[in-house]
Amino acid sequence: MSRRSREVFVIDAVRTPFGRAGEKGIFWRTRAEDLCVPLVKALLDRNPTVKPSMIEDSLWGVTNQVKEQGGTLGRMVPMLADLGWEIPGCSIDRMCAGGLTAIGFGVSYIASGMADCLIAGGIEHMGHLPMGFMRDPHPRAEEVMGDSSAFNMGMTAENIHDKFPEITKEMADAYALDCQQKADKAIKTGKMKDMVVPIEVELEDGARIIVDKDQQPRPETSMEALAKLRTPFRENGRVTAGNSAGLNDGASVVLLMSREKAEELKVVPKMRWVSSGVASVDPRIMGIAPVPATEKALARAGLSILDIDIVEINEAFAVQALYCLDKWGLSVNDPKVNKWGGSLAYGHPLAASGPRLVAFLTGLFKENPKARYGLTTMCVGRGQGYAIIWENLLTN
Ligand SMILES: CC(C)(COP(=O)(O)OP(=O)(O)OC[C@H]1O[C@@H](n2cnc3c(N)ncnc32)[C@H](O)[C@@H]1OP(=O)(O)O)[C@@H](O)C(=O)NCCC(=O)NCCS
Repeated sequence: MSRRSREVFVIDAVRTPFGRAGEKGIFWRTRAEDLCVPLVKALLDRNPTVKPSMIEDSLWGVTNQVKEQGGTLGRMVPMLADLGWEIPGCSIDRMCAGGLTAIGFGVSYIASGMADCLIAGGIEHMGHLPMGFMRDPHPRAEEVMGDSSAFNMGMTAENIHDKFPEITKEMADAYALDCQQKADKAIKTGKMKDMVVPIEVELEDGARIIVDKDQQPRPETSMEALAKLRTPFRENGRVTAGNSAGLNDGASVVLLMSREKAEELKVVPKMRWVSSGVASVDPRIMGIAPVPATEKALARAGLSILDIDIVEINEAFAVQALYCLDKWGLSVNDPKVNKWGGSLAYGHPLAASGPRLVAFLTGLFKENPKARYGLTTMCVGRGQGYAIIWENLLTN
């Protein structure tokens, strides 16, 4: 048997609109699995040569694996999509990078010859399963992570401000404003249309409507409004609702295939996996971790950050994105970074955000045929970073 690593392609990537978590959220009366099912059906509709029997695994990143998100959601989703019993599945937890890790594992399966075609996604219904819900940390967890601030993501962002005071609140607010404006432009010019699968939801009064727009963006934001927001994590802090990603519900999923299978099915691949890196840092400043993760991915690919034409970095907090851009020598408004805006505007339904970054990158590659390499990267609670580098195949 040949042990040569095989090429892995992204064939397609879709997502739900992202809703605000809680009773006013568009998905308050929708279960987590019911966000995933329409995405799987959409992938099959959009790629008619792919038959359910060809999907060899259903890998889903899920942070809070209890209640509706428990019971191996990854296995349940294909059955709930009425695809029968033949598609295996599992749920994966690396908190915010759960979905990106599912993609990374899927890539490894295909590269190693263990599968030819699979789906890898992420889901988080933060309204039904809030962060930390039903968690029971080990009595030594605080001690081994440094202190209690490592448990609170907003506090980890305040810690980055403390440690790197050259990143000011004004810079974080200006970055957040820019993000909202970029997202607004992308939405108004139809950039989300190809990747967003409309979802039918039930309202409070029982009426059913189709939702096809993200609920979180705040295009009306101004520097004055951002400056007035309270700092919920610490009195007189710098981290606010405006320069943090929100609490959200949503799902995203990617169809992965070997080169051989893509050629057999005559599907047009969007991008090729190049390399991955996962790294860990002090959990109290977890937001800096995309830097070492990206370093590993770049080193494995024999590339430098200068070779990367498009950067999709998940913005858990403006301060951590600013830290990473500075370390990479990129300016805060470099047009190759989060061109359509990021999680500060669209929201961050934890494990769903990694595949969301991949969906954005496929869209950006399509409209930038000269771009060759793209980076998808994110930080993770408990002090981790995950990065994947991709090569554009839509270059004709
Ligand atoms: C920061 C956080 C606590 C805010 O939660 P929240 O208070 O429920 O947020 P809201 O959306 O209600 O915003 C709070 C207020 O700020 C306002 N606001 C939020 N974003 C704004 C913006 N961009 N411009 C102007 N006002 C804004 C809201 O209108 C609201 O005002 P109100 O109180 O007058 O209604 C929450 O979003 C959070 O925990 N984020 C981090 C999530 C996280 O840790 N993810 C994992 C990362 S690793």
